[in-house]
Amino acid sequence: MTRILQISDTHIVAPGSLYYGKVDTRAALRMAIERINHDLERIGPIDYVIVSGDLVEHGKPEEYAAFKATMADLKLPYLALPGNHDCRETMRKSFADQDWMPEDGPIQWVREFEDFCLVGLDTSVTDAPHGQLTKAGLAFLSETMQRLNGKPLMIILHHPPIRMGIRPMDDINLIEAERFKTLVASYKGPCKICCGHVHQLVTSRFAEADLIIAPGVSHGVTLELREDVPYSFTIENGGMLLHDYRDGFQSIQIPVAPASPSIPFS
Ligand SMILES: [Fe+2]
Ligand SMILES: [Fe+2]
Repeated sequence: MTRILQISDTHIVAPGSLYYGKVDTRAALRMAIERINHDLERIGPIDYVIVSGDLVEHGKPEEYAAFKATMADLKLPYLALPGNHDCRETMRKSFADQDWMPEDGPIQWVREFEDFCLVGLDTSVTDAPHGQLTKAGLAFLSETMQRLNGKPLMIILHHPPIRMGIRPMDDINLIEAERFKTLVASYKGPCKICCGHVHQLVTSRFAEADLIIAPGVSHGVTLELREDVPYSFTIENGGMLLHDYRDGFQSIQIPVAPASPSIPFS
């Protein structure tokens, strides 16, 4: 059985600094990696860890270097997608040594397993916070769907194509998603869409597919469902998602913070 672990929105900043002067995002990522490595015997094997965008805060080379140095402790291979805080070309250069990084165009990739197929799509738009799929990205998805012919399909992208109620995030979600919606609706097999960007665990539906938004690792966009309240963030415990395909796609949240040792029921 294939297992994918999704980490999202790590927002790594330059060494020696804190996110908004408040959050040690690198320490949170380190804690997440320790949790994965520690739990691996119980929850593994895991085929890939996916980082679903906003790897770093400002798209700077030194931030990607810090991200990679931290991830070096992970005992698993990982793939990544850009979010709105990433810089596509700086990210490309920083991960040029990885076989999943395309030499040009959108940062997108596909991994096919026995039980399902995983497609990562690039929704980042240069110098803009919202997301948009390019023609090349939609063609890549369409060709993959045709080839798969109904095999269970998991699509990972940073920006959710839904509005979930936090108004400032709904304003910068995936825009012009009609073609994406048509493709997903027309797919013959089970489909699950996994997103990031909102830093809150949300489950929903999109074009008859299951959709989940992963929590952040270190902080959340404030769960503020009132209109016209200033945009803010909260320091959170953080979580990750473990995905597999059983009777259908399943996603389990794993907190970033360590759990207590196991305590027998008897
Ligand atoms: Fe983010
Ligand atoms: Fe984002």
